[in-house]
Amino acid sequence: MRIIVLGSAAGGGFPQWNCGCEACALFWQGDPRVRARTQSSVAVSASGEKWLLLNCSPDVRLQILQTRALHPQGTKRGSPIEGVFLTNGDIDHVAGLLSLRESQPFVIFGTTAVLAEIGRNQIFAAVDESIVPRKRVELDRPVVMADGLTIEPFTVAGKVPLYRESDAPETKGEWQSTIGLKISKGETQFYYIPGCADIDPALRARLKNAPLVLFDGTLWQDDEMIRQGIGSKTGRRMGHVSMSGPEGSIAGLGDLGIQRKVFIHINNSNPVLIDGTPERRQAEAAGWEIAYDGMEIEL
Ligand code: MLT
Ligand code: MN
Ligand code: ZN
Repeated sequence: MRIIVLGSAAGGGFPQWNCGCEACALFWQGDPRVRARTQSSVAVSASGEKWLLLNCSPDVRLQILQTRALHPQGTKRGSPIEGVFLTNGDIDHVAGLLSLRESQPFVIFGTTAVLAEIGRNQIFAAVDESIVPRKRVELDRPVVMADGLTIEPFTVAGKVPLYRESDAPETKGEWQSTIGLKISKGETQFYYIPGCADIDPALRARLKNAPLVLFDGTLWQDDEMIRQGIGSKTGRRMGHVSMSGPEGSIAGLGDLGIQRKVFIHINNSNPVLIDGTPERRQAEAAGWEIAYDGMEIEL
Protein backbone atom coordinates (compact mmCIF):
# COMPACT_ATOMS: atom_id res chain seq x y z
CA MET A 1 0.00 0.00 0.00
CA ARG A 2 1.30 3.46 -0.94
CA ILE A 3 0.32 6.54 1.02
CA ILE A 4 1.15 10.08 -0.12
CA VAL A 5 0.47 13.10 2.06
CA LEU A 6 -0.96 15.60 -0.43
CA GLY A 7 -1.54 18.28 2.20
CA SER A 8 -0.50 18.42 5.82
CA ALA A 9 -1.94 21.72 7.08
CA ALA A 10 -5.32 22.49 8.62
CA GLY A 11 -7.95 24.73 7.04
CA GLY A 12 -6.32 27.86 5.62
CA GLY A 13 -3.06 26.03 4.91
CA PHE A 14 0.37 27.20 5.95
CA PRO A 15 1.05 30.03 5.80
CA GLN A 16 -2.51 31.30 5.94
CA TRP A 17 -3.04 34.02 3.33
CA ASN A 18 -3.80 36.78 5.83
CA CYS A 19 -1.74 35.70 8.82
CA GLY A 20 1.27 37.14 10.57
CA CYS A 21 1.39 34.80 13.56
CA GLU A 22 4.83 33.66 14.65
CA ALA A 23 5.07 30.71 12.28
CA CYS A 24 3.43 32.47 9.32
CA ALA A 25 5.67 35.52 9.82
CA LEU A 26 8.73 33.28 9.56
CA PHE A 27 7.46 32.00 6.23
CA TRP A 28 6.80 35.49 4.87
CA GLN A 29 10.36 36.42 5.93
CA GLY A 30 11.80 33.45 4.02
CA ASP A 31 13.04 31.67 7.13
CA PRO A 32 14.24 28.13 6.30
CA ARG A 33 12.85 26.73 9.56
CA VAL A 34 9.35 26.60 8.07
CA ARG A 35 7.96 25.22 4.83
CA ALA A 36 4.65 25.84 3.07
CA ARG A 37 1.92 23.25 3.49
CA THR A 38 -1.37 22.80 1.67
CA GLN A 39 -4.65 21.79 3.31
CA SER A 40 -4.98 18.26 4.60
CA SER A 41 -5.55 15.36 2.26
CA VAL A 42 -3.95 11.99 1.65
CA ALA A 43 -3.82 9.77 -1.43
CA VAL A 44 -3.72 6.01 -0.96
CA SER A 45 -3.30 3.15 -3.41
CA ALA A 46 -3.09 -0.62 -3.23
CA SER A 47 -1.67 -1.00 -6.72
CA GLY A 48 0.11 2.30 -7.34
CA GLU A 49 -2.17 2.75 -10.36
CA LYS A 50 -5.59 3.68 -9.01
CA TRP A 51 -5.75 6.20 -6.17
CA LEU A 52 -8.27 7.10 -3.53
CA LEU A 53 -8.17 10.59 -2.01
CA LEU A 54 -9.02 10.90 1.65
CA ASN A 55 -10.79 14.27 1.58
CA CYS A 56 -10.50 16.82 -1.20
CA SER A 57 -8.97 20.11 -0.16
CA PRO A 58 -9.29 23.49 -1.86
CA ASP A 59 -5.64 22.94 -2.84
CA VAL A 60 -6.32 19.72 -4.75
CA ARG A 61 -5.30 21.12 -8.12
CA LEU A 62 -1.89 22.14 -6.82
CA GLN A 63 -1.60 18.84 -4.97
CA ILE A 64 -2.21 16.92 -8.21
CA LEU A 65 0.39 19.05 -10.03
CA GLN A 66 2.90 18.21 -7.30
CA THR A 67 2.18 14.46 -7.29
CA ARG A 68 3.25 12.53 -10.38
CA ALA A 69 1.17 9.47 -9.45
CA LEU A 70 -2.00 11.56 -9.81
CA HIS A 71 -1.26 12.99 -13.26
CA PRO A 72 -3.38 11.81 -16.22
CA GLN A 73 -1.57 8.83 -17.70
CA GLY A 74 -1.37 9.38 -21.43
CA THR A 75 -5.05 9.33 -22.35
CA LYS A 76 -6.89 12.35 -23.80
CA ARG A 77 -9.06 12.53 -20.72
CA GLY A 78 -8.48 10.44 -17.62
CA SER A 79 -7.22 10.33 -14.07
CA PRO A 80 -5.78 7.73 -11.73
CA ILE A 81 -8.10 9.16 -9.06
CA GLU A 82 -10.94 6.67 -8.62
CA GLY A 83 -12.63 8.12 -5.62
CA VAL A 84 -12.72 10.61 -2.77
CA PHE A 85 -13.61 9.45 0.73
CA LEU A 86 -14.84 12.29 2.96
CA THR A 87 -14.31 12.35 6.72
CA ASN A 88 -16.48 15.41 7.34
CA GLY A 89 -18.11 18.29 5.49
CA ASP A 90 -15.57 20.95 6.47
CA ILE A 91 -14.57 23.39 3.75
CA ASP A 92 -10.95 22.24 3.82
CA HIS A 93 -12.12 18.67 3.14
CA VAL A 94 -14.78 19.12 0.47
CA ALA A 95 -14.23 22.38 -1.42
CA GLY A 96 -11.70 20.75 -3.77
CA LEU A 97 -14.49 18.65 -5.27
CA LEU A 98 -15.45 21.77 -7.21
CA SER A 99 -12.06 21.67 -8.94
CA LEU A 100 -12.68 18.08 -10.07
CA ARG A 101 -15.84 18.98 -12.01
CA GLU A 102 -14.66 18.29 -15.56
CA SER A 103 -16.93 15.34 -16.48
CA GLN A 104 -14.40 12.88 -15.10
CA PRO A 105 -15.95 9.81 -13.49
CA PHE A 106 -14.99 9.02 -9.90
CA VAL A 107 -16.95 8.16 -6.77
CA ILE A 108 -17.55 10.33 -3.70
CA PHE A 109 -17.92 8.31 -0.50
CA GLY A 110 -19.42 9.79 2.65
CA THR A 111 -21.83 9.20 5.48
CA THR A 112 -25.44 10.33 5.18
CA ALA A 113 -24.60 13.46 7.19
CA VAL A 114 -21.61 14.45 5.09
CA LEU A 115 -23.27 13.74 1.76
CA ALA A 116 -26.20 15.83 2.98
CA GLU A 117 -23.87 18.85 3.31
CA ILE A 118 -22.79 18.43 -0.30
CA GLY A 119 -26.39 17.85 -1.35
CA ARG A 120 -27.59 20.99 0.41
CA ASN A 121 -24.96 23.22 -1.17
CA GLN A 122 -26.23 23.81 -4.70
CA ILE A 123 -22.78 24.70 -6.03
CA PHE A 124 -21.78 21.01 -5.78
CA ALA A 125 -24.38 20.21 -8.45
CA ALA A 126 -21.57 21.20 -10.83
CA VAL A 127 -19.95 17.89 -9.87
CA ASP A 128 -22.60 16.06 -11.86
CA GLU A 129 -24.02 13.09 -9.94
CA SER A 130 -24.70 11.18 -13.14
CA ILE A 131 -20.93 11.14 -13.78
CA VAL A 132 -19.63 11.36 -10.22
CA PRO A 133 -21.92 9.17 -8.10
CA ARG A 134 -22.15 9.76 -4.36
CA LYS A 135 -22.03 6.56 -2.37
CA ARG A 136 -23.42 6.51 1.13
CA VAL A 137 -21.32 4.56 3.62
CA GLU A 138 -22.43 3.16 6.97
CA LEU A 139 -20.41 3.44 10.15
CA ASP A 140 -18.44 0.27 10.93
CA ARG A 141 -19.29 -1.25 7.55
CA PRO A 142 -16.15 -1.78 5.47
CA VAL A 143 -16.24 -0.62 1.85
CA VAL A 144 -14.16 -2.64 -0.62
CA MET A 145 -12.54 -0.68 -3.43
CA ALA A 146 -11.91 -2.11 -6.90
CA ASP A 147 -8.15 -2.42 -6.47
CA GLY A 148 -8.20 -4.23 -3.14
CA LEU A 149 -8.30 -1.50 -0.51
CA THR A 150 -10.85 -1.81 2.26
CA ILE A 151 -12.04 1.35 4.01
CA GLU A 152 -13.85 1.12 7.32
CA PRO A 153 -15.49 4.33 8.57
CA PHE A 154 -16.01 4.80 12.30
CA THR A 155 -17.34 7.67 14.35
CA VAL A 156 -15.09 10.01 16.33
CA ALA A 157 -15.97 12.98 18.51
CA GLY A 158 -16.51 16.08 16.40
CA LYS A 159 -18.88 18.82 15.39
CA VAL A 160 -20.85 20.03 12.38
CA PRO A 161 -18.99 22.14 9.78
CA LEU A 162 -18.30 25.80 10.54
CA TYR A 163 -20.85 27.00 7.96
CA ARG A 164 -23.59 25.00 9.72
CA GLU A 165 -22.81 26.02 13.29
CA SER A 166 -25.37 27.45 15.65
CA ASP A 167 -24.26 29.93 18.32
CA ALA A 168 -23.24 27.14 20.67
CA PRO A 169 -22.64 24.00 18.64
CA GLU A 170 -22.06 20.70 20.34
CA THR A 171 -18.32 20.17 19.95
CA LYS A 172 -17.86 16.59 21.07
CA GLY A 173 -20.87 14.99 19.43
CA GLU A 174 -20.44 11.42 18.25
CA TRP A 175 -22.52 10.99 15.17
CA GLN A 176 -21.77 10.84 11.51
CA SER A 177 -20.55 14.41 11.10
CA THR A 178 -16.93 13.45 11.77
CA ILE A 179 -15.47 10.04 11.07
CA GLY A 180 -12.12 8.31 11.12
CA LEU A 181 -11.05 5.75 8.55
CA LYS A 182 -9.29 2.42 8.83
CA ILE A 183 -7.65 1.65 5.51
CA SER A 184 -6.51 -1.93 4.92
CA LYS A 185 -4.96 -4.06 2.26
CA GLY A 186 -4.75 -7.67 3.38
CA GLU A 187 -3.12 -7.68 6.80
CA THR A 188 -1.68 -4.17 6.39
CA GLN A 189 -3.61 -1.25 7.76
CA PHE A 190 -3.49 2.32 8.91
CA TYR A 191 -5.82 4.91 10.40
CA TYR A 192 -6.66 8.35 9.05
CA ILE A 193 -8.22 10.71 11.63
CA PRO A 194 -7.64 14.34 10.57
CA GLY A 195 -10.30 15.74 12.90
CA CYS A 196 -11.05 14.51 16.40
CA ALA A 197 -12.43 16.33 19.43
CA ASP A 198 -11.67 13.79 22.15
CA ILE A 199 -9.52 10.75 22.80
CA ASP A 200 -12.15 8.53 24.34
CA PRO A 201 -11.79 4.91 25.51
CA ALA A 202 -13.37 3.53 22.33
CA LEU A 203 -10.82 5.32 20.16
CA ARG A 204 -7.94 4.21 22.36
CA ALA A 205 -9.11 0.60 22.16
CA ARG A 206 -9.43 0.83 18.39
CA LEU A 207 -5.93 2.24 17.86
CA LYS A 208 -4.11 -0.18 20.15
CA ASN A 209 -1.02 -1.64 18.42
CA ALA A 210 -1.92 0.00 15.09
CA PRO A 211 0.96 -0.04 12.56
CA LEU A 212 0.35 3.61 11.57
CA VAL A 213 -1.93 6.44 12.65
CA LEU A 214 -2.24 9.82 10.91
CA PHE A 215 -3.94 12.00 13.48
CA ASP A 216 -5.44 15.47 14.02
CA GLY A 217 -2.54 17.83 14.78
CA THR A 218 -4.47 21.09 14.63
CA LEU A 219 -3.19 22.82 17.77
CA TRP A 220 -0.39 22.38 20.24
CA GLN A 221 -2.34 24.01 23.05
CA ASP A 222 -6.08 24.54 23.36
CA ASP A 223 -5.89 28.36 23.69
CA GLU A 224 -2.91 29.08 21.43
CA MET A 225 -4.88 31.17 18.92
CA ILE A 226 -6.15 33.39 21.72
CA ARG A 227 -2.68 33.67 23.31
CA GLN A 228 -1.16 34.62 19.97
CA GLY A 229 -3.85 37.25 19.38
CA ILE A 230 -5.00 35.72 16.09
CA GLY A 231 -8.39 34.32 17.05
CA SER A 232 -11.03 33.96 19.71
CA LYS A 233 -11.65 30.22 19.56
CA THR A 234 -10.15 27.38 21.50
CA GLY A 235 -9.33 24.05 19.92
CA ARG A 236 -12.20 22.49 21.85
CA ARG A 237 -14.60 25.01 20.40
CA MET A 238 -13.36 24.11 16.92
CA GLY A 239 -13.80 20.39 17.59
CA HIS A 240 -10.11 19.51 17.88
CA VAL A 241 -8.18 17.87 20.69
CA SER A 242 -4.75 19.49 21.16
CA MET A 243 -1.37 17.76 21.10
CA SER A 244 -0.14 18.75 24.56
CA GLY A 245 -1.55 18.47 28.05
CA PRO A 246 -3.02 15.62 30.07
CA GLU A 247 -6.07 15.32 27.81
CA GLY A 248 -4.04 15.85 24.64
CA SER A 249 -3.25 13.42 21.87
CA ILE A 250 0.40 12.90 22.79
CA ALA A 251 -0.66 11.67 26.24
CA GLY A 252 -3.85 9.96 25.10
CA LEU A 253 -2.27 7.94 22.30
CA GLY A 254 1.09 7.50 23.99
CA ASP A 255 0.85 4.12 25.63
CA LEU A 256 -1.02 2.13 23.00
CA GLY A 257 1.85 0.44 21.18
CA ILE A 258 1.14 2.37 17.95
CA GLN A 259 4.15 1.73 15.73
CA ARG A 260 4.17 4.95 13.74
CA LYS A 261 2.38 8.18 14.67
CA VAL A 262 2.09 11.14 12.31
CA PHE A 263 0.40 14.48 12.96
CA ILE A 264 -1.54 15.90 10.03
CA HIS A 265 -4.07 18.78 9.65
CA ILE A 266 -1.69 21.15 11.46
CA ASN A 267 -2.88 24.70 12.05
CA ASN A 268 -0.63 27.63 11.14
CA SER A 269 -0.51 28.70 14.80
CA ASN A 270 1.04 25.39 15.90
CA PRO A 271 4.70 25.80 16.95
CA VAL A 272 5.55 22.25 15.78
CA LEU A 273 5.56 23.71 12.26
CA ILE A 274 8.84 25.47 13.11
CA ASP A 275 11.98 23.32 13.03
CA GLY A 276 13.76 23.17 16.34
CA THR A 277 11.09 24.58 18.66
CA PRO A 278 10.74 22.95 22.09
CA GLU A 279 7.24 21.86 21.08
CA ARG A 280 8.53 20.14 17.93
CA ARG A 281 11.23 18.41 19.95
CA GLN A 282 8.68 17.33 22.56
CA ALA A 283 6.38 15.82 19.94
CA GLU A 284 9.28 14.03 18.27
CA ALA A 285 10.61 12.76 21.59
CA ALA A 286 7.17 11.26 22.18
CA GLY A 287 7.51 9.36 18.90
CA TRP A 288 5.46 11.64 16.65
CA GLU A 289 6.37 12.73 13.13
CA ILE A 290 5.09 15.99 11.67
CA ALA A 291 3.62 15.38 8.23
CA TYR A 292 4.77 17.48 5.30
CA ASP A 293 3.40 17.76 1.78
CA GLY A 294 4.83 15.01 -0.41
CA MET A 295 5.60 12.68 2.50
CA GLU A 296 5.36 9.09 1.26
CA ILE A 297 4.78 6.01 3.33
CA GLU A 298 4.92 2.44 2.05
CA LEU A 299 3.11 -0.16 4.14
C1 MLT B 1 -11.65 22.75 11.16
O1 MLT B 1 -10.89 21.80 10.95
O2 MLT B 1 -11.96 23.07 12.32
C2 MLT B 1 -12.24 23.48 10.00
O3 MLT B 1 -11.56 23.14 8.84
C3 MLT B 1 -12.26 24.94 10.24
C4 MLT B 1 -12.67 25.71 9.01
O4 MLT B 1 -13.55 25.28 8.25
O5 MLT B 1 -12.11 26.78 8.80
MN1 MN C 1 -10.13 21.46 9.06
ZN1 ZN D 1 -0.55 32.06 11.06
